[in-house]
Amino acid sequence: MSSLVWIELDARAPGHNLAELRRGAGAGALACAVVKANAYGHGLAEIARLVPSADWFGVNSFEEGLALRALGETRPVIVLGHVPVARLRDAVDADLSLTVFNRETVEALARLAVLPRPARLHVKVETGTGRQGVLAADLEGFIRLVRATPNAALEGLSTHFANIEDTTDHSYADAQLARFSEALETVDRLGGRPPIVHTACTAAAILFPKTHFTMLRTGIGLYGLWPSRETRISVRERGGPVPDLRPVLSWKTRLVQVKELPEASYVGYGCSYRTTRRTRVGVLPVGYADGYDRALGNRAHVLVRGRRSPVIGRICMNLCMVDVTDVPESRLDDEVVLLGADGDERISAETLAEWAGTINYEVVSRISPFLPRIVRG
Ligand SMILES: Cc1ncc(COP(=O)(O)O)c(C=O)c1O
Repeated sequence: MSSLVWIELDARAPGHNLAELRRGAGAGALACAVVKANAYGHGLAEIARLVPSADWFGVNSFEEGLALRALGETRPVIVLGHVPVARLRDAVDADLSLTVFNRETVEALARLAVLPRPARLHVKVETGTGRQGVLAADLEGFIRLVRATPNAALEGLSTHFANIEDTTDHSYADAQLARFSEALETVDRLGGRPPIVHTACTAAAILFPKTHFTMLRTGIGLYGLWPSRETRISVRERGGPVPDLRPVLSWKTRLVQVKELPEASYVGYGCSYRTTRRTRVGVLPVGYADGYDRALGNRAHVLVRGRRSPVIGRICMNLCMVDVTDVPESRLDDEVVLLGADGDERISAETLAEWAGTINYEVVSRISPFLPRIVRG
């Protein structure tokens, strides 16, 4: 690998992880691989190729859906976010299934002249997340509107949990599920439920088979990451099988300069770090523009020749510095692990998240899409 900064993907891990997530689901349950945000930073094209077992893809935007189609992907794709009214025809032309929660969207579809096929709609129900969704009081009218729109076919019903991974107390999720069940009854009464019913993000898929319905809609677990520590604790408390999730991604770079600075030298912008000894400083060509969070300055470690080396000074836009005094054999061009394993040492997305004051989802999804993705194995 001759790049300076790159992502390595374990070819077998995504398929393995999806199988692990599916383990508790009924035989007929479909699996939607959530690949929004460039497949959580892993690389949309690569991940789509590495999960032949996924039945569906979930993206956030119309543009992400088009990107999958441009890759030649023919599996069903659901856009989970809002599609601007002006792009509805293009979305239907690209055979994207749409999540709907605004009357204006359905009314605009009704006004479109002949479409190549009816728009496939998934009505999103507001059950307590307070973001996209049709309120219970409006659901009956909404379903009637969809059913009365000749250009539209009701393909799915969905909701999303607000508080399933952040806690070991799942009473809020239970209440959401109860509201969703009422919504299903309403839809049943109005002509029958659509073929695809989906609520289960990774934590729900792992913890609550009753959320599986006809399709899982999992993101983070597919990438071999746990939604949270609370999810791990909950699964152990329940005593069921613990899925074996294998991280898919490693993030690597190289030393682009190694030099000795005398004691009491400053390192980086703002002179936030000062050496306390004669220090071998390694320069890395990675910065916050690549997604290496600025909060990692003076906090994180990287792996140089399998040993943890502290990041010293602030993270720059395209560079950062590490103390390699204790890795005296390190040399120019040596590989450095920012996220991943080297020998017995590992820096996980969770560890980076803890250092940066965020969650593993954000750590990976903000990795620059411009970095090359190399598939290994
Ligand atoms: C609507 C929706 N469904 C599913 C997911 C997947 O969730 P997870 O990555 O926790 O599996 C997300 C992620 O944010 C989402 O927003």
